[in-house]
Amino acid sequence: MTVVVLMSNFETIIYEKQDGKGYITLNRPQALNVYNVRMRDELHESLQALRDDSEVHVGILKAAGDRAFCAGADLTEFLTAPSPVIARQVRFERDVWGLFLNIPKPMIAALHGYVLGSGIEMALCCDIRIASDDAQFGVPEMGLGIIPAAGGSQTLPRTINLGYALEILLSGRRIKAEEACQIGLVNRVVPRTELLTEVEKIANKINVCDPNAVSFAKQAIVRGLDLPLPQGLELETRLACRLLA
Ligand code: COA
Repeated sequence: MTVVVLMSNFETIIYEKQDGKGYITLNRPQALNVYNVRMRDELHESLQALRDDSEVHVGILKAAGDRAFCAGADLTEFLTAPSPVIARQVRFERDVWGLFLNIPKPMIAALHGYVLGSGIEMALCCDIRIASDDAQFGVPEMGLGIIPAAGGSQTLPRTINLGYALEILLSGRRIKAEEACQIGLVNRVVPRTELLTEVEKIANKINVCDPNAVSFAKQAIVRGLDLPLPQGLELETRLACRLLA
């Protein structure tokens, strides 16, 4: 049951693996795990490692510290950049979100405390979201005069009811864990002390299944959602044949 710690030179992300599970931990707890350029690069590298490691079958995204999963983008970088446009441009240099959304393995998010801005967007790149009872969710971008740029405008309405997605995105209203569960943003809410155990329970259940079948099923569902039904059915058939072959 050894935990292998990988990429020890990282500052903002911890990447570990244990028993078929790859753990990515956002690790700037003193600044509520806000997303900066360094985190962008380290997240990109650890997602690639998780994707390419044949010993890892399920990914878990979690965060260090008691207060936040992630309170959004690092506003100090926005304020020190020559302009918010340049601050955004720097973030677009690497397609972290494209990579994240295309990981062919199940990703589970363990969410606690503040889950704001890019925090909620990272959670939406995952397939399964579990929240602790202290979690609160929000998209503060409108109040800053910007729009979400980590996929949130696309992933939120594909995850929850359109009216709720528009309300949360346009009004910036923060919602608590219970409401997040009622609207389908998270699968369930558990006490803070049980968050990781609950997430690992799900990961372990997935891990007893054949990893190729799990990966193909995820791809059939996720890629199929972007297709009309006939093409979605063709995709399912193709993947089913590939799995049998
Ligand atoms: N960027 C950079 N630093 C941030 C940050 C952000 N988005 N959010 C919080 N921090 C830092 C604070 O500056 C503070 O640092 P300090 O201890 O060195 O002063 C530390 O994290 C703790 O935050 P603080 O504001 O003191 O905690 P709080 O409990 O009073 O409030 C929040 C928590 C999340 C409500 C508040 O920090 C907040 O609104 N943050 C901004 C959220 C946001 O707009 N994100 C950007 C979305 S694009």
